[in-house]
Amino acid sequence: MRTPIIAGNWKMHKTVSEAVELVRKLEAELQDSPVEVVVCPPFTALSAVFALGLSKVKLGAQNMYHEEQGAYTGEISPAMLKDVGCQYVILGHSERREYFKESDVFVAKKAAKALEHGIKPIICVGESLDERRAGKTFDVVVTQTKGALAYITPEQIADVVIAYEPIWAIGTGETSTGEDANEVIGKIRATIAELFGQDKADQVRIQYGGSVKPGNIAEFMNQPEIDGALVGGASLSADDFTKIVQYE
Ligand code: PGA
Repeated sequence: MRTPIIAGNWKMHKTVSEAVELVRKLEAELQDSPVEVVVCPPFTALSAVFALGLSKVKLGAQNMYHEEQGAYTGEISPAMLKDVGCQYVILGHSERREYFKESDVFVAKKAAKALEHGIKPIICVGESLDERRAGKTFDVVVTQTKGALAYITPEQIADVVIAYEPIWAIGTGETSTGEDANEVIGKIRATIAELFGQDKADQVRIQYGGSVKPGNIAEFMNQPEIDGALVGGASLSADDFTKIVQYE
């Protein structure tokens, strides 16, 4: 059985005090949830959130660089993320692929480095609207999945989380149907099975992301292949994110 994992991607939102306030509420509300709960605040709020000594809510970052240290102005290393309590890191989000030109190889290097440091990567894959209309959804997600997992070993793969996020559904209010997302996620799992074997693929958690809200989360979580969600906008509200985690 795969433990469901629901993560909040706060993107470029929340000051330190706002972050602390939001996480305190989540920690109190979600204590008894069977779901693994992760929040990914901006870098500036990580250490203050870590200092709260959370027991239920886990901490993740939204990005990192794949070098240990050095002259990389503006970048953050895996050891720095460990230092402020990060157990997860989102990698290859479509916004980073689009605005910062992150390639599959770049994402693959970061994923391998994160695992080397004991940080679990949440690797994002997903097609654009044009790609979907051209019938290329499977091709795109298979290529991105294989690309991102290029340096991962069979011993590491169970610690990887994949987030399937159709780009046209991110922040738009449009969502994939549960069935559609389930089919694409099944294809991602089959790709992992091709690379690492079915037993390993069955251990990997694959999330859906893209306009997840309290009103539609159950549709996704009820699908057999879908193990959780990566939530953007709705994770900024304690009420909404709590309802999403308590989807049953
Ligand atoms: P959204 O974002 O929930 O606001 O659509 C999801 C994401 O980008 O991870």
